[in-house]
Amino acid sequence: MDNRQRDGDTTASHEHKRMWGGRFSGETDDLVRRFNASIDVDSRMALEDIEGSIAHATMLAERGILAQDEATSIVEGLRGILRDVLTEKIAWSIDDEDIHMNVERLLTDRIGPVAGKLHTARSRNDQVATDFRLWLRRATEDLIALLADVRRTFVDFADQHLGIIMPGYTHLRVAQPVLLSHHMMAYYEMFTRDGERFEDSLKRLRVSPLGAGALAGTGFPINRRRTAEMLGFERVTRNSLDAVSDRDFALEFLSYASIAMVHLSRLCEELILWSSEEFSFITLPDSHTTGSSIMPQKKNPDVCELVRGKTGRVCGNLMSLLMVMKGLPLAYNKDMQEDKEGVFDAVHTLQISLELISTMLPTIDVHAERMRDAASRGFSNATDLADYLAKRGLPFRQAHEVVGKLVMLADSEGVRLENLTLSRMQEVSDLIGYDIYDVLAAERVVSARTSYGGTAQSQVKHQIRSARKVLGRA
Ligand code: ARG
Repeated sequence: MDNRQRDGDTTASHEHKRMWGGRFSGETDDLVRRFNASIDVDSRMALEDIEGSIAHATMLAERGILAQDEATSIVEGLRGILRDVLTEKIAWSIDDEDIHMNVERLLTDRIGPVAGKLHTARSRNDQVATDFRLWLRRATEDLIALLADVRRTFVDFADQHLGIIMPGYTHLRVAQPVLLSHHMMAYYEMFTRDGERFEDSLKRLRVSPLGAGALAGTGFPINRRRTAEMLGFERVTRNSLDAVSDRDFALEFLSYASIAMVHLSRLCEELILWSSEEFSFITLPDSHTTGSSIMPQKKNPDVCELVRGKTGRVCGNLMSLLMVMKGLPLAYNKDMQEDKEGVFDAVHTLQISLELISTMLPTIDVHAERMRDAASRGFSNATDLADYLAKRGLPFRQAHEVVGKLVMLADSEGVRLENLTLSRMQEVSDLIGYDIYDVLAAERVVSARTSYGGTAQSQVKHQIRSARKVLGRA
């Protein structure tokens, strides 16, 4: 490995021949050299870059643009580099700025000047767009699979905890009792939509910009469909200017990743609340909590807090790329080199967050009694009392008023609605009969809600069953 190839080498290397150096007589400022380089970030796309180059060289030979023996030596050289990348034998150099020129330099070192023919009918502009799309396509496919794991975890959890009643909240005030399984299946729905969004984005990711050249296309008789096919793209971009300027696919990815992180963050917020001393609905496992360096009693929900916190950086990455793109004239601008870091970071953050949730969720200890008890506090059956009166012919608005009075009465006596005697209740409304006590039990309140998608066990079971069917297919 020569000096130039040492990773992070920041010493000025004046003998270094820049790939674009022909029209320059002066040296690049050393700080500029470092500022300009993207290799520390884009070396992650090494495999995609080499793959793209192999496809390009193969096509060039098929079209007679390169001689077959030239293409063969290029492809073999690239395969050698690929092997060395996979076995981590390569040290990248900031002197060659980015992954594209690093690979070309390595190729030149290995096969000599014929390596210079690889860049025929190609630009780094269509090259980087191709690499990035290839990389993101794979990352998206992996995330879809991870999301399916998470969804499975939620369905299993819902199945295992069927029957546990908890308070449902609005405004973080007890609203109506619901099944814990119902609550968790709500997250299943969110993660399902996340998966669908990523899935949908694949059809826009599977479009090849390769062959757009610097911006205007090329005069060489290339075959864009052929390289697209070799790289697993479904079609080619229709407009060469758009092909090299478009980063919608990255913005779209970051939007969807942000939405998914927001879902995880809301879940984590709930788990933090539920595991607090005040709620005590659940106990988080030791494996996903940490202690305090000063307070010996503490068991902190760090994982949940960090997932919630890291949601900020993923959303930040979206904002950051939106801001990078918003004022750019067509076509390529160097600003766009800023597109990858946030995407790589978002992929990593979402991946690890999803993995953490799917390992943590099954190990959560649920305190069913605490949940059940909390579910009957806060007059959570008041709506059911109003419904009872409405079913007896009282207009719902009036029923609402009557129950409001009963709540005030119970509240002033410090009891629950079901603890008011029948005669006290009848003083407020003579429509109330003894059967009211059946209606007011939390179990009844839950089991009464049989409307489609409601919290009655029959409905939640239905949700679980159809989720299993969908996941079976996934
Ligand atoms: N490293 C560059 C990027 O990531 C590659 C494209 C460079 N193109 C150029 N015309 N300077 O955007």
